[in-house]
Amino acid sequence: MHILVILAHPDPKSFNHAIAARAMETLATNGHRAILRDLCAEGFDPLLPAGEIPRGATLPADIERHCAETAGADGLIIVHPNWWGMPPAVLTGWVDRIMRPGTAYEFVEGDDGEGVPQGLLKAQKAIVFNTSNTEANREETVFGDPLERIWKDCVFGLCGVPDVTRRMFRIICTSTPEERKAWLDETARIVSETFPAEP
Ligand SMILES: Cc1cc2nc3c(=O)[nH]c(=O)nc-3n(C[C@H](O)[C@H](O)[C@H](O)COP(=O)(O)O)c2cc1C
Repeated sequence: MHILVILAHPDPKSFNHAIAARAMETLATNGHRAILRDLCAEGFDPLLPAGEIPRGATLPADIERHCAETAGADGLIIVHPNWWGMPPAVLTGWVDRIMRPGTAYEFVEGDDGEGVPQGLLKAQKAIVFNTSNTEANREETVFGDPLERIWKDCVFGLCGVPDVTRRMFRIICTSTPEERKAWLDETARIVSETFPAEP
């Protein structure tokens, strides 16, 4: 399968980078063709210009490439830390610019944008790996775990990806090397369960 991995973290020494590296290694072991897009390393510009908003707009070559990779992937993996209950801005900007009408979703005929769109992404499965420093009960009761709704409903649900596995690793700032090793082993397990070895 052709799997696209999107990583949003500015520090190559971060645990997020370790998660993405382990996911890539597991995908290769399982015989998949995987592309890693490290948004910060490539200097992805998250600002959606006005001229790109209309359906069918002419897009810069790098944005076209991101759109084609995302629309054509058989599976998607997103890796990012919890920043203010949101993905880092570079990743929300990637969603703004890449999840476009015509490639990621489409309004049905006669709908000017007020209705429920149809998802267009080819991928039927996605994994979201998150990290945070908030204890689980506080995340649920005080903040309502906004990343769960953002990815499962607002983005992948709308773009036609029904099967979304999300795993939040916590608490990173006090974690031991043993915990981090176990989390990376779990990352490999989740990736293998979702995208098993090619026959
Ligand atoms: C700008 C910023 C905002 C953050 N907001 C939150 C937050 O809302 N909730 C939380 O639990 N942690 C928050 N954190 C902590 C990060 O989630 C944490 O540093 C990260 O998950 C650790 O993973 P890493 O080692 O890969 O950086 C924030 C960190 C930064 C830099």
